[in-house]
Order: sequence, then structure tokens, then C-alpha cells
Amino acid sequence: MIPLTVAEIAEITGAAGDCGADLAAVVSGPVVIDSRQAEPGSLFAALPGTRADGHEFAPQAVAAGAAAVLATRPAGVPALIVPDVPAALAALAQAVTARLPGLTIAAITGSAGKTTAKDLTAQLVESLGTTVSPRASFNNEIGHPLTVLRVTEQTRYLIAEMSARGPGHITALCAMSPPGLGAVLCVGHAHAGVFGSIDDVARAKGELPAALPADGVAVLNRDDQRVLAMAERTAARVVTFGRSPGADVRAADVGLDDAGRPGFTLITQAGAAPVRLQLHGEHNVANALAAAALAGQLGMDLEAVAAGLSAATARSRWRMEVTHRPDGVTVINDAYNANPEAVAAALSALATMARGGRAFAVLGHMTELGDQADGLHEQAGRQAARAGLAGLVVVGEEAAPMLDGAKADPSWHGELVHVPDAAAAAAAVAERVGRGDVVLVKASRAANLQRVALALTGEMPL
Ligand SMILES: Nc1ncnc2c1ncn2[C@@H]1O[C@H](COP(=O)(O)OP(=O)(O)OP(=O)(O)O)[C@@H](O)[C@H]1O
Ligand SMILES: [Mg+2]
Repeated sequence: MIPLTVAEIAEITGAAGDCGADLAAVVSGPVVIDSRQAEPGSLFAALPGTRADGHEFAPQAVAAGAAAVLATRPAGVPALIVPDVPAALAALAQAVTARLPGLTIAAITGSAGKTTAKDLTAQLVESLGTTVSPRASFNNEIGHPLTVLRVTEQTRYLIAEMSARGPGHITALCAMSPPGLGAVLCVGHAHAGVFGSIDDVARAKGELPAALPADGVAVLNRDDQRVLAMAERTAARVVTFGRSPGADVRAADVGLDDAGRPGFTLITQAGAAPVRLQLHGEHNVANALAAAALAGQLGMDLEAVAAGLSAATARSRWRMEVTHRPDGVTVINDAYNANPEAVAAALSALATMARGGRAFAVLGHMTELGDQADGLHEQAGRQAARAGLAGLVVVGEEAAPMLDGAKADPSWHGELVHVPDAAAAAAAVAERVGRGDVVLVKASRAANLQRVALALTGEMPL
């Protein structure tokens, strides 16, 4: 963080009265919510957690050197008392970005692919100057300000991931760190149950282009009508990406290698250059194009973008993470999260990767789909059938409609297995797979199926 005195932090956050804190002390960061990460000069923000209350750990943070504590009630050590700690973090983030006019902020949103596109963009932009980007999926009202507060005077670029679980969320994130560039990847069914409908999802994602200034750049997916329509909602210049012929940043000649990694020709106004991604699955082409468009707008030339994309790796785990076991079985751990579009994308990557062997999928339920949940699970089952699987292992009751979908599809020829939990799923797969086979493990985070994948790769016993 840029250095701020405790007095400045008190003023920015509206902390109440005399708190016993040393107002002249300087906080130079990092801002942490886990006392174990506190170090000299840190700011410790006490949050009520689901398992433990951060207030109880404030003394530990101070013992580790934290220069100040933000809390909602006395925490046994001098603390700045605020009504709402996330709101205080937001105010701090806003104040910090306001003091850094030389910082360029690019934000990415969409129903799927945000972390991947953010990681790709960061890997490109790092070659242009010092870059801060979120760890993992730090994309909400807590994670985003924590990311913003990692910025220093040396930082030239902030590549942010913005998520929305309701209207107004992205507007709030943009207020903390007004982006000059904003990319929208896609509008899908993720969290549609929470929002109401897919059009409500589109409205919420559209808050990012709507927040951009007239001299900013809105990077929009030309292949997604709901995203392209956001051109109407922005004052910024629009740059489109996609496979459509009219896209400003375009992929042509898309193909997958034997490991399911996409290659394509990247075409922009500046010309064409070949890209071979290290990431698995055709859906990553769109994520790469969004990254290419953002980096191009930040001044990176086409050859450097193409080379950078070809060298970029998956920084965040459990997204199409491929492990080749010594016995010839390949495990794809895509258990980080799932929604209908992501399941379709993963199944199509699985089908490509299993050419020459058998394909198995372990699928768990997708959360937050509202009253469309059963129909969308059935649809996933049909997609599994069309992917030509040798076996589909469906985990848990909520995912059961997938079995009906697979059975109802005339192309289904494989074996259907319904199991209650992760342990049974891992056992069912272990009994069936052999050399040359590929197993995909995918579900929403709540289903906890990464345990199946980690058991299959031998990384962790169940
Ligand atoms: N463009 C895409 N279209 C469909 N599915 C995608 C796309 N990009 C990624 N996915 C799927 O979504 C999963 C999550 O990817 P990623 O973590 O990049 O998304 P995210 O938007 O950051 O998710 P979250 O909302 O959980 O933060 C991937 O494992 C992949 O299966
Ligand atoms: Mg994410």
C-alpha cells in the first residue's frame, strides 16, 4: 500500500473518536484479514468470519507488527472503530487510487473466465510495467479492495477481476478503483438463480462498461449478443473481440492439439500472428482474445501479445488442471467451479483430449441456478452423452437430473453411475479407468469435488 498514517486512515474510514491507536504511526501495508499474514507496518482488518471472528486475532496481528487495526468493536488492542469494515476497506481503496493518477486500471467481468482472462492479461501487461493483479479470485467487496490496497507508487497497472452477485456490486467495485479499461467476457447462467434471470445477469455485468469514462475503452465480446449490446451503455470507445468476422481482435483457424490446447491465428488491425495456448479447452480462446485486446489497448504490439499468450500459464489452480498419471490415466481437475456454459466447455475439451482413449466425467451439481436448475442439469447430461463418454459418474441428489438427460439422449452409449459423495465417486472411477483414459472432474465449489480429483492424482488422500 502507499504509506498512510493511522490518522489519515482514521479520517478516510470515518473511524470514531479516540481509539488509543498511535495516530502518527505509518501503515505501509500489506492490508491483511488473516493475522498470520500480518507483518511490520500492516493494517489488520478484523472481519467476522464463518468459523472465527477476526476481532479475536487482532492481538496476534499487533504482536506480528501490524501498525493499525480496523474493527467494528474493541478488540483488546488499540483499533480504529468503524461501523463496517468492508466499507472502510472500500473507502481506503478509493482514496488510494485517487492518489495515484498515473495508475492504469483494467477490470474484467463476465459469467465465466474472469480469473483466467485476468491471469492472462496480467502475464501480458507485466512486460509493460509493474502490475498488480488479484490472487486467485479476489473479486468481491472484500477481495477487490484488498487487491487494490496492494498497489504502490511503483505500480503502473492494476488488472482487476470483478464479480457480481446482484445489481450494484460492479458499480461499487468500479467506484473503489475507477477503471480506464473494462472487458466483459460473457453472460451466462452463473448465479442466474440469485439474480432472477439471465437478463438481470447482463444488466449487472453491463455496469462495468457503464462505469467507463469517455476516454476509456470497453472491450466487448462480439460473439455474445448480450455483451455486444453493452456498447449502448458505455461512453467509452468500444473494441470488440471474438470469432465473428467483424471483431477488432479476432481468432481465426482455431484448432485443438491432442492435449486439448487451442491454437489460432490472432488477427488485429496490425496484422496476424500465431498463438498456441498452454491452457486446455477451446473456451480459453475467448479469454485469450479479451487479454489480447486489453494488452493491445495498453500499447503492446501484436507479436509480443501473441508470444506472451503462447507462453502464459494457468496461475490459478483447479481450472482444467491436467495431470498425467504414471499409469497412463489423465485427470482433468476442473472442480474449481461450474455453471452450464463451463460444463459444456469442459466436456468438449474432454472429448478432444480422450481421442484414442475413453472419456469419463465425474460431475457434481451446479449451484445458484434457481428454478431452472433441474432443466440445466438435464441439459448437462445430454451434453455428456454427446461428448461420447464411456462413463458418467454423477455425484449427489441435486445433480441427479444429469442422469435423465444422458439416458434420454440417443447418442448415450456409456455407463451411468450415481454415487452419494466424493469418496464413492473416486472409488467408482478408480475401478474403471486404465491406460489412455481421461477423467474430467467438475462441479460447483459447494460440491467439493476437488477432493475426487486430488484423490485420483494422488495429491491428497480422500
Ligand atoms: N469463456 C468461457 N466459457 C465457458 N466456460 C468458461 C470460460 N472460461 C472459463 N470457463 C470455465 O469456468 C471455470 C472457471 O474459470 P475462471 O476461474 O477463469 O472463471 P471466473 O469467472 O473467474 O469464476 P468465478 O466467478 O468463480 O471467479 C473454468 O474452469 C472453465 O471450466
Ligand atoms: Mg474468478
